[in-house]
Amino acid sequence: MHFQPFSPKTIVEPFRIRSVEPVGFTTPEERKELLAQAGYNPFLLRAKDILIDLLTDSGTGAMSSQQWAGMMASDESYAGARSFYRFEEAVKDITGYAHVMPTHQGGGAEHILFHAIASAGKIIPNNNHFDTTRAHVEHCGAEARDLVIDEGADLALIHPFKGNMNVEKLAALIEKEGVARIPLIMMTVTNNSGGGQPVSMENVRKVSALAKAHGIPFFLDACRFAENCWFIKTREAGYANVPLIDIARELFGYADGCTMSAKKDGMANIGGFLAMNDSKLAEQCRSFEILMEGFPTYGGMAGYDMEAIAIGLYEAMDERYLAYRIRSIEYLGEKLQDAGIPIIRPTGGHAIYLDARRMLSHLSWQEYPAWSLNNGLYLLGGVRGVEIGSVMFGLQPDGSEKEAAHELVRLAFPRRVYTQSHVDYLAEVIVELDRQKDKLPGYRIVRQAQVLRHFTVLMEPVVGG
Ligand code: F0G
Repeated sequence: MHFQPFSPKTIVEPFRIRSVEPVGFTTPEERKELLAQAGYNPFLLRAKDILIDLLTDSGTGAMSSQQWAGMMASDESYAGARSFYRFEEAVKDITGYAHVMPTHQGGGAEHILFHAIASAGKIIPNNNHFDTTRAHVEHCGAEARDLVIDEGADLALIHPFKGNMNVEKLAALIEKEGVARIPLIMMTVTNNSGGGQPVSMENVRKVSALAKAHGIPFFLDACRFAENCWFIKTREAGYANVPLIDIARELFGYADGCTMSAKKDGMANIGGFLAMNDSKLAEQCRSFEILMEGFPTYGGMAGYDMEAIAIGLYEAMDERYLAYRIRSIEYLGEKLQDAGIPIIRPTGGHAIYLDARRMLSHLSWQEYPAWSLNNGLYLLGGVRGVEIGSVMFGLQPDGSEKEAAHELVRLAFPRRVYTQSHVDYLAEVIVELDRQKDKLPGYRIVRQAQVLRHFTVLMEPVVGG
């Protein structure tokens, strides 16, 4: 008996589920009340009142049975714990960096690094800084400069590596400002603020060469390194048959160090690290680590967190898992595009980004269209995403308001949490909301903080609601 070859279209999740968690079903009337109580800020909702929570892919993933087993066998010694050495070995194996400092999350690593190298008058170039990364740079008095390629700013344009750095602009910046003003070059893989778009190995190689030629340290913001490597494998010539771990090793090899939030491609619920080759810088960072995070063999994590990450970093590079993850997001993207809904194209590594400026053209940027769209998703379908628009980026350090480059709603997918039927439901909600979008009101700010205001801002709808 010989069957004909068969390529199923169904996305089979490469795991089966043996521990389940109920999701929060609510009625439309309840959601209206709950959102009003939360000051129309989805960050202030209780997670139990959300059906599908796509606020972030950070720390929200499901761990594997292997990770839980590792956690049970962890060593909680204050200094020199076995779990630290396991964690260090995994990080060194993948990145090749000589010094590994555990931190409580990615922001902890950024805090230490920027404290050591950034100060007033300095500029940190990056393809795109993530919002809290930018805040860390600015907190040290330095300037965060985004130099993504022009194609990266065009939401609908198809390009395989829209996260790439504009190397010419970077060279011109170094030329103009001088090496003394640029203590570090960073690249975020994948580029979260730019749509979860990957950077190519070729681009990283070029940035690395330029950094070396000027003696400027080059670091990766490596939160989503495995997803980026998957795109290199599937989109860049010469990598189709290279094992993912070797792609990762090559990628890290071009840089002098990295900051990492293990809440993403570390497959853990908390944790991160700072890693680097430079011994002198490492010594400086370690002293500050003790002050801010903890002793250098735990740095703000429990032994069991380090175990979970040591295992999770390898699970994130599992090609079956990556194929399922990236395909689920692409699948949702296809459904939305078939319905004429504008999104960032091509779909990226961890999220779908809805283009609210195009979708809600009846609202001006001062009415915060992406905020309104995100609230609409909750009201209609119990779905929570996050606004990446003029609420997140509009408030300037001098207190003035500026229109953000884009008005986006990001729907970020927790790792190994949702199934295809959740994705089908999401598509239904978004398509239905698009049909009724004229009902979505503008919003006005009632109360706000001066830094990272989107987390705590209180809003009200301008009409009706
Ligand atoms: N860098 C990037 C590119 C990130 O996406 C994040 C976090 C961080 C750094 C900071 O890491 O949260 O562990 O301190 N991004 C999450 C998000 C919060 O929703 O995109 P952290």
